Amino acid sequence: MTETPESEPIARFQALLDEAKRVPRSVLPEPTAFALGTVDANGQPSVRIVLLKHVDERGFVFYTNFESRKGRALLASCRAAMCFHWQPLEVQVRVEGGVTVVSDAEADAYFASRARGSQLGAWASLQSQPMTQPGDLDARVAEMEQRFAGVPVPRPPHWSGFRIAPDKIEFWKNMPSRLHVRHVYTREGARWAVQQLFP
Ligand SMILES: Cc1cc2nc3c(=O)[nH]c(=O)nc-3n(C[C@H](O)[C@H](O)[C@H](O)COP(=O)(O)O)c2cc1C
Repeated sequence: MTETPESEPIARFQALLDEAKRVPRSVLPEPTAFALGTVDANGQPSVRIVLLKHVDERGFVFYTNFESRKGRALLASCRAAMCFHWQPLEVQVRVEGGVTVVSDAEADAYFASRARGSQLGAWASLQSQPMTQPGDLDARVAEMEQRFAGVPVPRPPHWSGFRIAPDKIEFWKNMPSRLHVRHVYTREGARWAVQQLFP
């Protein structure tokens, strides 16, 4: 096990994300997309795709409805797992860590940057709840358009960001004959220890 500087795995992740963003959209349409794994209060795991909106030394940030299935699971367990797969780069990155809610100021700033249609959608969608009739969503969108006509759309109280503070980050690189290279960084206080794993 080798000790590494505090910034190393995040800098390595950012370099890969930058590389993924340089791939043409026709080849890699959503470079910030990742699979988010959560566990609910009954121990039931679930996974879905969300978009990474920010990453720095504090962790990985994405936004969602806190009353959704994932929102409830994260608020209960305070733990998450993430997996990025950038197929054109032949790279996979896995992250595990503790979850906190971003500050209201951070969530407000991001919400304000979104298109108005998405802002209204955040109010209209009762994410993960059953719809009684197929037209329910359109009706709620129309209701929100009326409610906020002519005024800026504020951030809904149930909509914000989660920050996943990594305590484990694994970089996987495809190699011939499936002799892939895996480096796993484990947080040890302010530093990271790195180990290579068998593929
Ligand atoms: C490419 C892609 C990006 C997505 N981005 C988000 C996102 O950033 N936030 C979000 O709440 N849902 C996002 N979704 C929808 C989620 O995958 C999921 O359907 C939704 O959040 C409800 O999940 P839940 O019922 O497990 O909470 C995205 C889906 C796809 C396919």
